Amino acid sequence: MSVGLRETHDSAHLHVTGQARYVDDIPAPAGCLHLAFGLSAIARGRLLTLDLSAVRGAPGVVEVMVAEDLPRPADTSPSAHDEPLLCNGPIHFLGQPLFLVIATSHLAARRAVRLAKAEVEENTPILTLDEALAANSRFEDGPRIWTKGDAEAALAKAPRRLEGSMEIGGQEHFYLEGQAALALPGEGQMEVHSSTQHPSEIQHKVADALGVHMNDIRVVMRRMGGGFGGKESQGNALAIACAVGAERTGRACRMRYDRDDDMVITGKRHDFRIDYEVGFDEDGRLHAIDVTQYARCGWSQDLSLAVADRAMLHADNAYLIPAMRITSHRLRTNTQSATAFRGFGGPQGMLGMERIIEHVARALGKDPVEVRRLNFYDPPGGAKTGPGTGRRFGGPHSRPAGDEQTTPYGMEVTDFILHEMTEDLLEASDFTKRREAILDWNAQSPILKKGLAYSPVKFGISFTLTHLNQAGALVNVYRDGSILLNHGGTEMGQGLHRKIMQVAAARFGVPLDRIRISATDTTKVPNTSATAASSGADLNGMATQAACDTLRDRMAAHLAGLYQTTPDRVEFRDGMVAVGPESLTWDGAVEACYLGRVSLSSTGYYATPDLEWDRLRGTGRPFFYFSYGCAVTEVVIDTLTGENRILRADILHDCGNSLNPALDIGQIEGGYVQGAGWLTTEELVWDQKGRLKTHAPSTYKIPAVSDRPALFNVRLWDAPNRVETIYRSKAVGEPPLMLGISAFLALQDACAACGPAFPDLHAPATPERVLAAVKRARAG
Ligand code: MTE
Ligand code: MOS
Repeated sequence: MSVGLRETHDSAHLHVTGQARYVDDIPAPAGCLHLAFGLSAIARGRLLTLDLSAVRGAPGVVEVMVAEDLPRPADTSPSAHDEPLLCNGPIHFLGQPLFLVIATSHLAARRAVRLAKAEVEENTPILTLDEALAANSRFEDGPRIWTKGDAEAALAKAPRRLEGSMEIGGQEHFYLEGQAALALPGEGQMEVHSSTQHPSEIQHKVADALGVHMNDIRVVMRRMGGGFGGKESQGNALAIACAVGAERTGRACRMRYDRDDDMVITGKRHDFRIDYEVGFDEDGRLHAIDVTQYARCGWSQDLSLAVADRAMLHADNAYLIPAMRITSHRLRTNTQSATAFRGFGGPQGMLGMERIIEHVARALGKDPVEVRRLNFYDPPGGAKTGPGTGRRFGGPHSRPAGDEQTTPYGMEVTDFILHEMTEDLLEASDFTKRREAILDWNAQSPILKKGLAYSPVKFGISFTLTHLNQAGALVNVYRDGSILLNHGGTEMGQGLHRKIMQVAAARFGVPLDRIRISATDTTKVPNTSATAASSGADLNGMATQAACDTLRDRMAAHLAGLYQTTPDRVEFRDGMVAVGPESLTWDGAVEACYLGRVSLSSTGYYATPDLEWDRLRGTGRPFFYFSYGCAVTEVVIDTLTGENRILRADILHDCGNSLNPALDIGQIEGGYVQGAGWLTTEELVWDQKGRLKTHAPSTYKIPAVSDRPALFNVRLWDAPNRVETIYRSKAVGEPPLMLGISAFLALQDACAACGPAFPDLHAPATPERVLAAVKRARAG
């Protein structure tokens, strides 16, 4: 069976030979025009006048459009209708599109936009979290607060208390393929190619901007060169601009952002500050936590409310906290509109929790791993007792009241497998011995210090906007036995198409090469959700299975009739169809069904069951299940410069019954490195005017091949998902990013080796911050 095999990515060959076609590689039709935005040079104020005469006169310029020239007031927002395509007066951030140039070449358009003269009224921008708080500049009326138990009372009663605060930086997506779109005017219907994770959203927004119906717009997406959440909503502006331009000129229009423009215009991961107060006892058991999350959302709402919700939903990470209050401020600033990024707020919430655990462990002089294990949720089937597990001894030290196995949002945790996984990983990575060895090594090494850390991940799977948890598929079987498969998910490098092909091949019992997946296309499968929340394979795999099974049932009924047997005696396997004692080839069976006038095309549909969520109150069951993982990372720092390296990473990650272990391991490796990059070298810097200073690879440092851990051991935890997902697999796209937290904690551990005080490391742990933390550790 094709499911569970280590198949390569279906486009691997095309990727490595440079033949894979991305939006901007689609050959330009005759007369194709090229677009560029003219951008605001200030972060906040008003646009008074715009002198575009030099722009209009520039070589190659065909059209120049300002907000008033648009057929309708076009909006690019995925949520609150608060993002005009072109500035209509107020200026919200430095980089905001003010006008649109349509020219005969990409270069001509880019050259022309520079010739504009904008007269503006400039106001002091709100850039930082503190400035936003002082100005009460926020989305929603006030902070959102979710509670479990009485955190205040429990804190007051706790034997020990600590408080602290942590800064967490944002992150640029740095997809290799920048944002791009191409609009082809047709006969009534406009065809839009967009580098988007969400073709249906592009269709909806383009239809809205043109004042037409959704059936007038067709959106096609073959593949992205990475999305990472940055193409959930941030492609809207380019697609709308191209469609508007195509309608205006009657010619094809295309647009791509150069890297600098891409970084200056589009949103990034939200940076956060997390303040906390924690109550605990001498054993390290947590009694209560009061945590406040401040999210810098940028100028428009975009997906920020859902991102901030997910940060709250991961504020417990893997730990049972008897009483908790989580407060979330969604702050509005004059910066790029922060957006989805792998983990969608989860990483920030989780890092806050890990920081609290670390602080508690260091205050007690205890091993952070033991404090983590002590506070884990119970495994399924109840508490483990006994010295081996280090928990639940009963008596006076048992957990304080309120310890039913529920998250702070009231969802019962019934599938917690981190006890066994942790045991396995610590053993496999030789954790205890290496920690001893590192202690010895550090004692001998005055300048270089090593650090070692373990961290767990528990990540909730499902869109928290419940209605998004649905998907559709369309499967066509042609009379020669070849199969064309469509589903609502998009391919961004994660290998989704390959996994879905494996599902279809398994249902029909045919080899993979009988199946082709065509580009994601809104005319084939309507009303799709974004490929996001790691749920691409979960949702589209189930929808595809449903479509295949409908076809199989039809074929079985017909073939059973032909050979005077019953449908339950028809079996699809190894490229053959057994009908009772008869054996047909797949191709022969298909031809027989065609001649018997059996429909060989079917749709399939899936909606995730058992979800119920009230986001305002913060209670319910937002997730179908949790994905788990854990990592151990070893680092070394130079205490003179703060420079550092990851020496080794060991990972054990839970993919349920993996649909494709090769792709899943690729996701885990990539996720870990991207997470480690977020927390170490990737630093976004804005100046006091709100100008993003790090807008190119020269100043923004993503991990390179040489930055991956020299020793990198990744294994899959081999156990089926407890709930019914496609072949009992688990989602894998986002969770591994949060394994990178272990790299950050290892750096903190190395800093802690320098002196007695808590190093209070902030993220990203750039060499400067590591150096400062070393000094703090020594000063104590
Ligand atoms: N892997 C690659 N190679 N490129 C990407 O852009 N995006 C990540 C993850 N893995 C991404 C990736 C994000 S943010 C998500 S939500 C999931 O893939 C989406 O795909 P899936 O639902 O099919 O896992
Ligand atoms: Mo992923 S951040 O859900 O696109």
